[in-house]
Amino acid sequence: MSKLILDSSNPVDPGQVVWRSPSNIALIKYWGKHGVQLPRNPSLSLTLASSCTDTMLQYAPRETPDDGQVELDFFFHEEENESFRAKTLEFLNSLAPTMPFLRQLKLTVRTGNSFPHSAGIASSASGMSALALCLCSLEDKLFGTLRDADAFDQKASVLARLGSGSACRSIFPYAAVWGATQYVQGSSDEFAVPVGDQIHDMFHDFHDDILIVSREEKSVSSRAGHALMEGNPYAEPRYAQARARMGTLLEAMKGGDLATFGKIVEDEALTLHALMMCSNPSYTLMRPASLAIIEKVHQYRADTGNPVYFTLDAGPNVHLLYPGEIITDVRKFIDDHLVQHCEDGYVQQDWVGEGPEEM
Ligand code: DP6
Repeated sequence: MSKLILDSSNPVDPGQVVWRSPSNIALIKYWGKHGVQLPRNPSLSLTLASSCTDTMLQYAPRETPDDGQVELDFFFHEEENESFRAKTLEFLNSLAPTMPFLRQLKLTVRTGNSFPHSAGIASSASGMSALALCLCSLEDKLFGTLRDADAFDQKASVLARLGSGSACRSIFPYAAVWGATQYVQGSSDEFAVPVGDQIHDMFHDFHDDILIVSREEKSVSSRAGHALMEGNPYAEPRYAQARARMGTLLEAMKGGDLATFGKIVEDEALTLHALMMCSNPSYTLMRPASLAIIEKVHQYRADTGNPVYFTLDAGPNVHLLYPGEIITDVRKFIDDHLVQHCEDGYVQQDWVGEGPEEM
């Protein structure tokens, strides 16, 4: 592989690259990791559309002598943000040994989300994938090393993974699998692969309405939660369960079997939260309102037969998943019965999307 070092006798013209990248919602959850951001089990997600991050990466020749650190300015919604800058700097510094040009430039990141920062929606998947895509565009502009679209996406997925595991799945349209599994050819622990063309068309028109139960910062971060899996007595059977489920879920998604899909997806969400409850120390991220919504979803399904299913991330907010053809009924159900459980009545309407866009 080329060394990706700039020729100092030939200064780079200042420029910029811009990407918009979406969040994703895991159906089979990544929970537990080892080594350098490698997953303990394969995961599968739907790529979302409306919850996204726009990131601009500006570059120019470095202004200060190389002190072993990347030179970085960081703006979040136009304002300097020291805590985001520090996290991004740590990430860029960790990439510099294999991407030494990062230290030869002055970099400015300008980023912002399509959803309110305080909405309680995690932005690490959209944020890290947008930044990873910008870094790949920059590498390609400077060295022409990522002309091939598949090579570009794969490297973007690797870099996103190093920033935040779940972010590596946001690179691809419709749906992606991260983690080596016998059920997906070419799958890997190092990067996600697209599986959107292997699932029924109905999943290309699928909705995810995110019921914001609480906007508060989580009491236990995902990073800490992953770490607690190392001492969890149910860790090994959990990983085995996820590996086996990948086959069943993909089969159900290929055939458009919503009943099997829903059963696995809901069980994955509850298993994730059960793992938190039996970690040491144990913790709960669901709130009473999360449970109230879950029970109403069960009842609604029993009453109407409509295929509406819930899932949860590592937090209290409930994602409602359903096919586009029943959107009118479901939105009425949300307005009449679920909005009352949401903080300030906030619902982030999202749907399956076509993946990141270069702007
Ligand atoms: C519950 O990707 O946020 O959302 O790799 O430490 O950044 P880090 O963790 P993160 O974990 C997400 C966990 C999850 C399930 C999932 O998205 O698969």
